[in-house]
Amino acid sequence: MNDLTRRRFFGAATVAGVVGAVSTGTSAELAAHPSKIKILGIGCSPRPESSTAAAVLSCLEAARAVDPSRIEVELIPLAGKQINGALAADVPLGPDERDDFPQLVPKLTDPSVAGMIIGSPVYFGNMSSLCKAFLERLMVFRKEGFKLSNKVAGVLAVGGARNGGQELTIRSIQTALFCQEMIVVGESRPTAHFGPAFWNSSEIEKITDDQAGMAAAANLGRRVAQVALLIASSAHELH
Ligand SMILES: Cc1cc2nc3c(=O)[nH]c(=O)nc-3n(C[C@H](O)[C@H](O)[C@H](O)COP(=O)(O)O)c2cc1C
Repeated sequence: MNDLTRRRFFGAATVAGVVGAVSTGTSAELAAHPSKIKILGIGCSPRPESSTAAAVLSCLEAARAVDPSRIEVELIPLAGKQINGALAADVPLGPDERDDFPQLVPKLTDPSVAGMIIGSPVYFGNMSSLCKAFLERLMVFRKEGFKLSNKVAGVLAVGGARNGGQELTIRSIQTALFCQEMIVVGESRPTAHFGPAFWNSSEIEKITDDQAGMAAAANLGRRVAQVALLIASSAHELH
């Protein structure tokens, strides 16, 4: 990939430093730092008071609880960020367009990141456009040597209806993550399904009152953390 193409993928002339910060080879780096890992949570609602971000946070807390001395977590809400999926297709930004994805690159490629939990609100039976644009922007990591390879991925969805499309949303996001060579996991037992399908019912005050969702979130957080620790301890074998 030449410099011009590379710059277009990152979407701004000011990202030369960010490109330099992209890590090289996830497994080898994890092997060099096997003792501590980081798990990121990505909240893909455009709303600042997002129930999805709160659901992702609960999942991260469960992940951290697996081994607080080794696991660090960080929530990255995408609310307020402009993410332009067209850049993934090498379409340059228009004069009034902006893309904040380069700000996220150092966090996403931090060598200690071993897992990621992505949450989206359900919009018309599938992920939000912000979530889709984010997944499309991850194309740069696939193109530049599969930078997300072997990172563990868990997914959750929050819908306003009991059966509003949470499962399809989860499976759609997982489909994109498979293309990154990520290790996509579902929840640990006893729920052991695809990922928490939160119901943001009008009957509850806040999303953490959804007990079924919270039980699945605890199991997903635990699963992501356990598999991430396992991979970190044997990363040299995967490289
Ligand atoms: C454009 C739009 C479409 C929606 N479509 C669905 C839907 O198909 N199914 C559903 O269960 N909820 C749907 N909802 C409701 C949201 O998924 C629900 O309010 C969710 O909790 C919002 O998450 P947030 O608080 O993180 O923004 C929709 C909301 C919006 C704004």
